[in-house]
Amino acid sequence: KKVPWVDVSDDERDDRRRKTPLGVKANGHQPNGHPHPHSHHHQREQEGRNHKRHKKARHSMGTGAGLVEEWSTAGPSGSNGTAAALQEQRRNLPIAKGREALIQEIRNNDVTVLLGETGSGKTTQVPQYILESGLARTGMIAVTQPRRVAATSLAARVAAEKNEPSVGRLVGYAVRFDERAGAQTRIKYMTDGMIVRELLSDPLLSRYSVVVVDEAHERTLRTDLLLTNLKTIQRTRNGAGKDEAGTGKGKGKAENPLKIVIMSATLDAEKFSKFFNNAKILYVKGRQHPVKIYYSSEGQTDYVDSAMRTFFQVHTDQPPGDVLIFLPGQEDIESLEKSIKLFANQLPKDEMEVLICPMYAAQAPGQNAKVFAPTPSNSRKCILSTNIAETSITIPGVKYVIDTGMCKEKRYLARDTGGGFDTLLTKAITKSSAMQRAGRAGREGMGACFRLYTEDAFNNMALAPEPEIMRCSLTSSILQLKCLNQNLEELDLMDMPDVDSISSALKTLWLLDAINPNRELTPLGLQMALFPLEPIHARAVLASRENGCTLEVLDIISVLSASSKLFVDITEQRETAAEARRMFTHPSSDHLTILNAVRAYGEIVAGSAGKAARKDWCRKHFLNERTLLEASEIRVQLRQTCGRMGIDWKISCGDKEEPVVKSLAYGLAQNSAFLQPDGSYKQTMGQSVVKIHPSSVLCEKKVPAIVYDELIFTNQIYARGVSSVPKTVFAGIGALNRRIA
Ligand code: CDP
Ligand code: MG
Repeated sequence: KKVPWVDVSDDERDDRRRKTPLGVKANGHQPNGHPHPHSHHHQREQEGRNHKRHKKARHSMGTGAGLVEEWSTAGPSGSNGTAAALQEQRRNLPIAKGREALIQEIRNNDVTVLLGETGSGKTTQVPQYILESGLARTGMIAVTQPRRVAATSLAARVAAEKNEPSVGRLVGYAVRFDERAGAQTRIKYMTDGMIVRELLSDPLLSRYSVVVVDEAHERTLRTDLLLTNLKTIQRTRNGAGKDEAGTGKGKGKAENPLKIVIMSATLDAEKFSKFFNNAKILYVKGRQHPVKIYYSSEGQTDYVDSAMRTFFQVHTDQPPGDVLIFLPGQEDIESLEKSIKLFANQLPKDEMEVLICPMYAAQAPGQNAKVFAPTPSNSRKCILSTNIAETSITIPGVKYVIDTGMCKEKRYLARDTGGGFDTLLTKAITKSSAMQRAGRAGREGMGACFRLYTEDAFNNMALAPEPEIMRCSLTSSILQLKCLNQNLEELDLMDMPDVDSISSALKTLWLLDAINPNRELTPLGLQMALFPLEPIHARAVLASRENGCTLEVLDIISVLSASSKLFVDITEQRETAAEARRMFTHPSSDHLTILNAVRAYGEIVAGSAGKAARKDWCRKHFLNERTLLEASEIRVQLRQTCGRMGIDWKISCGDKEEPVVKSLAYGLAQNSAFLQPDGSYKQTMGQSVVKIHPSSVLCEKKVPAIVYDELIFTNQIYARGVSSVPKTVFAGIGALNRRIA
């Protein structure tokens, strides 16, 4: 059954095509090229143009093999993109024309806000321009990213452009659990979380002459905290105080001044500019081709199914060109992948072949390489992506976008009792996402975007997502700020979170013994902050020191800190999986089951099984090898952190179980529930009844008390990652005692 399409011409892209050289816009004015959501006049005009250009576009569908090839390389070697070709590409980027003007503005201003379409060259070029022009003096240039994949892949790309033999020399990166940078490093791509963490050791960020805050529009919690800190750091470093001190030298003579560049893909520049005392806003025009927008004439109930049907409509009716489908998350990607494969096999032999490429943040490095590889002839690439392809990553060759209109949003439900929980719910995207998604079809030529929602639905969308600080747990950030002697509620933030959310975080920190009843940081809290871990996990590691089981707890915590789950959980195969994992299943603890699995895998690795054999072993036991590999790298980092803090990570409790469970319980104290006479479990810190998740070894079992890693919220509240804890253990945990008493 076909999805009924309404033909509506591009209402967002067309203004962007107006020629606007990079130039300074007066403050308070919208930069030229601001998409005007409902310029009907333009719509008509655009439609006419689209028709005229259509034929031509059909034949000019080159894939630009050189460029495509470059994407897939992790380093400068091993591709046919020569150094000269790379330089040629650099020169052709839209931002290149504005280079001098840009440098001039950055030179003249302490803070610059740079706005530009995705793909115009902001992230890769601006740091190089700054370096080449000497603006960074002898200091480093930090370029912050909300996502680690972006930080690492951009560092690789820019190192290649700089003709560097490897990443980690002139151009490096720093992400949690992984850093490649050294004494020679001048441009450092790093996650916003990493630079905020650096404040702990270097409160003025004195190693950096320039901080480029990239993808600022995403307004992650860490980006917001960074912006707040940058404002005060700049005041201190740029010598605003010098005049007051009466040196008579005035401003501009600071020894180590800081420059700030804020980069954003969407149009909310005003807010950043205002925050930084009306900083200048610059605009770089992208190279955007018109995109024809189609809305569904009726709401679609099953977006995975609609996406599948729309894909085949495009595939059978439309000229060559790759298809990019935006979906909320990995599960939907996997399910769509399956159904497309199924139907693609039934296509007549003379149809173009369908090449499916999934793309999401939790993929292992290299796993998504085929997304960037050139599309073989007589085939059509079908990229299934989360919103990672919205702004962070540019995928070449895309001509059609299918937008389900959905994304996953993490939201923390704070409880005044402490212990709220994270929800990851699928919800409608915002207008700005919808525009970004559509824009991905117009990178190399004219494109089309199929929206699986109605035009009314689009009109009713919120403009932009709510800043993360308004909807996530503040526990870890408040702890870090305490270490900097800052109280979140007193900061000059772009948006101020709820009081409930702040008090919930403070309660958690108090339950973890990280702060005292006067809200002051405790020595234990300071130690917790030194671990690159969630406070609840850091607390467990610190408790393991007293309980003599650091070796075991680190094995478990490193798996819990990895970006994907260890146990492959497919609903229809739960029984088979449980059977396959029987050899390491612990009867009353998912955490000890993890420990057993890590140990078993350790033996396989030590037993010098080849790569293929290891992989096979993991598959047979329904274990995610990627998680195990990532966890072992995390473990190395955590052992080093322990070493620096004088904690002996080799201390082991052998086969004893209670010390391990007890240590975990110190961290998970507020994630606990007791069995009720009616057989249900009730939270100790809240009023909710929780069920044990069907994937848990404890599912269907009744034990007096449990701790869990997380609650997930579907039709009921489920506890996932569960261990049975003897009630006597709880008696020893100060926080719980205080609470229960
Ligand atoms: O930041 P912005 O979206 O403005 O652009 P960018 O990330 O600097 O990317 C500019 C161009 O460089 C992209 O359009 C790609 O053609 C290319 N690029 C690439 O080939 N490989 C990368 N890893 C990153 C960028
Ligand atoms: Mg960028």
